[in-house]
Order: sequence, then structure tokens, then C-alpha cells
Amino acid sequence: MPRDILPEPPDELKRLSEALADRIRGEINIDGMIPFSRYMEMALYEPGLGYYSAGLHKFGEAGDFTTAPEIGSLFAACLAKQIAEVAERLGEYDILEVGAGSGRLAAGLLASLDPSRLPQRYRILERSADLRQVQEELIASSAPDLLPLVEWLDRPPDDGWSGVLLANEVIDALAVERFEIGSGELRQLCVAAGGDGFDWSIRPAPPELQAAVEKLKTDQPPEFMSRLRDGYRSEICLQLSPWLEALTAGMTRGLALFVDYGHARREYYAPERSDGTLMCHYRHRAHDDVFFWPGLQDITAWVDFTALAEASLDCGLVLEGFCSQAMFLLGCGLEEVMAGLQARQADAAPEISAEARQLTMPGMMGERFQVMGLGRGIGQPLRGFSLQDLTHRL
Ligand SMILES: C[S@@+](CC[C@H](N)C(=O)[O-])C[C@H]1O[C@@H](n2cnc3c(N)ncnc32)[C@H](O)[C@@H]1O
Repeated sequence: MPRDILPEPPDELKRLSEALADRIRGEINIDGMIPFSRYMEMALYEPGLGYYSAGLHKFGEAGDFTTAPEIGSLFAACLAKQIAEVAERLGEYDILEVGAGSGRLAAGLLASLDPSRLPQRYRILERSADLRQVQEELIASSAPDLLPLVEWLDRPPDDGWSGVLLANEVIDALAVERFEIGSGELRQLCVAAGGDGFDWSIRPAPPELQAAVEKLKTDQPPEFMSRLRDGYRSEICLQLSPWLEALTAGMTRGLALFVDYGHARREYYAPERSDGTLMCHYRHRAHDDVFFWPGLQDITAWVDFTALAEASLDCGLVLEGFCSQAMFLLGCGLEEVMAGLQARQADAAPEISAEARQLTMPGMMGERFQVMGLGRGIGQPLRGFSLQDLTHRL
């Protein structure tokens, strides 16, 4: 989408973005360029200025994008069914939600779970101080009695907890490296100052990136990388494995559920996807101009679910299931949940049906989003993965 047809930000926000751009240029000035991962990190999380740190309105109609929990209550109500099944096996349990956004999923889950089977603690690990406050306000207004269950953490818990870890659309917000294949060598895409903003700059890939791209070929057909022509660009998330390790190290028993848009590796690095998967969201326009007003728009990269499954092996987790969001929600009992909600809120029945379509239709969220379950000591089967098994694609 060309830059000039994106909505113009108001002046006060442009000034915020310019302050962030100055800070990014300050880092670029040291070496002439910074890795794209550093640019993405600053654009999203630079204290006080990054997209997730500057107090902008991001979620829902008035923001830039709408996530599944923001559409209505169905998503949370279905996840609650999966949580209840795991809780049944665990007895007392905690929920750990990573990257809780506006807090809507937390509020929805606390409202949907059986009051006699609530978690001991609903813990939220949220990077953005601004969003923590938004989450607290939302939970305080929608479920004040349950607020005492909720606690915010500064780092992943290491106290030997058991329960369910949830991360909806969080992996796509982890900063990624961007690479290019050119004349038989691997290059790192970096960001340099250019014109009145930023531009791409290229240098030979450093050893860590070389090794990570080389590792992509593991268990793939021999032609996997050679199919990719000169000029092929894509992304890789180098922090995925240490991030998962840190998140799950303290989980003695439980299920970690990751919901995100992405693919298994073969589709992720398909020859036709020759410019990678970066996507920006600004006022409900999806586009690929990562240099458009840094700090004012979301920047995401799709998730390589094969990489997530590989990382889980290093953490001693078991791959419990991998399927589309549609099949996961249906497995959790979407139809029954929907009928129950519609019976209780007859006036809202058409909206509830529309929400179910948005969550499950292939062209909407149903197949673009995938769910992966990684477990420790909880056993099979899990209802969410009972209808579809896509693990053979990984
Ligand atoms: C796209 S939003 C998704 C929000 C929410 N899960 C939802 O579905 O509406 C990404 C969220 O992850 C948070 N986040 C990103 N990286 C994180 C990390 N390493 N640890 C904790 N939270 C993180 C962001 O601040 C934000 O709340």
C-alpha cells in the first residue's frame, strides 16, 4: 500500500514518532546501520516512545487492529473449555497470560470459567507498562471481585507453577532478523538513515544468523533452500527459543497454548513468498512499509510454527497438537458455546453468529491463525486438538 494513501497521523503523534526516529538514528550513527531486529525492537518497545510503550490506542475499532478476544466473548469462552479440561487433570492451577493486550481475554476467561474452578492466580506477563494499566482498569471494571486473583509479573515465574500458559498474537510481535539470499551468500538486512527517514542496507550475515538459517534445512527436503532464488528475502526469529525456555522453565505441569498467524516451515519459506512476511497495521490498514512513522504502527512477522515446535523440544515440552484456529475452537465446543450465549442474549444473536464466522471462516481468522499446544505432564487427549492434526506438516 503506497504511503500516501495511509491516513496522515496528527501532528502531536508525528512529534512522538520523530523523537523515536531520532533515537533510532542515534544508534544507527554508531555503525552506519542496525540490524532490522533492533529497529523492530525499538519501533515497538522503546520506553515511552515505541508502539507498545507510548500509551497509544491500539486495539479494536478505534485502534489499528482487532485480535480474536477483542471481537466478542466467544474466543475466551472456547478457551475456557480447554482450560477447564486441563484444570480437571491438575487440581489447583494457575493461568499465565503473556502479552495480554487490553486485558479482554483475561476478563473474558475469568467470566467464562466455572466460579468453583477458577485459577489460584491469573498471572499476566506484560512488557508494556502502559498496557498493564489498561488491563487492570478493564478487569477492575468488568470483574471487580476477581481482580485480587490477578497479578502482574516483571519476569516469567520460576516458582514451580502448574496450569495453562496463553499467548495470543504475541510471537508475531517478537523482533525478527531479516535476511536475503544473494549470489550464493546470505546477507543481513539492516536499517540505515535514508532520505528523511530510513532505508534498507545490506551486509554479510553475521555467524549467528548464518547458523540459524543453515539450521532451517534440518528435516526439510534437500531442495528446501535451493528452491529460493537470488534476491529471496524473509525473516527468522532468533529469540524464539530462549524466550520459550524462559517462559516455560518454571512450569512443572501444564499446557502452553500459542495462537498466531503463521505456517509450518515449508509454507513459511515458500519460493513465492519472496519478500517475507512482515506486516504493519495502521488504523485497520495492513501494509508492508515498516518505515512508515515508526512507533505509530504495529509491525509483525508471521510465525514459523516448525521453529516453535523445535524450540519446545529444547525445553523438554511435548507437542500436544497443532491445528487451525477454526478447528481448535470447534473442538473446544464453539457451537455449543455459541448456542448458550445466544440463548442468554437473544438480542445479540446475529452479532454472536457474525463473531463465530470471523473466528472460523478460512478467509478470515479461521485458517490464517493456527494454534499450537505444548505440554508438560498433562497427557492426551485435549479437546481443542481433537478435530484436526496438522503436526505432519511441521
Ligand atoms: C498483538 S498484541 C496481542 C494482545 C492480546 N494477546 C490480544 O490477543 O489482544 C501483543 C502483546 O504482547 C505484548 N508483548 C510483546 N512481547 C512481549 C514479551 N516478550 N513479553 C510479554 N509481553 C509481550 C505486547 O505488549 C502486547 O500486549
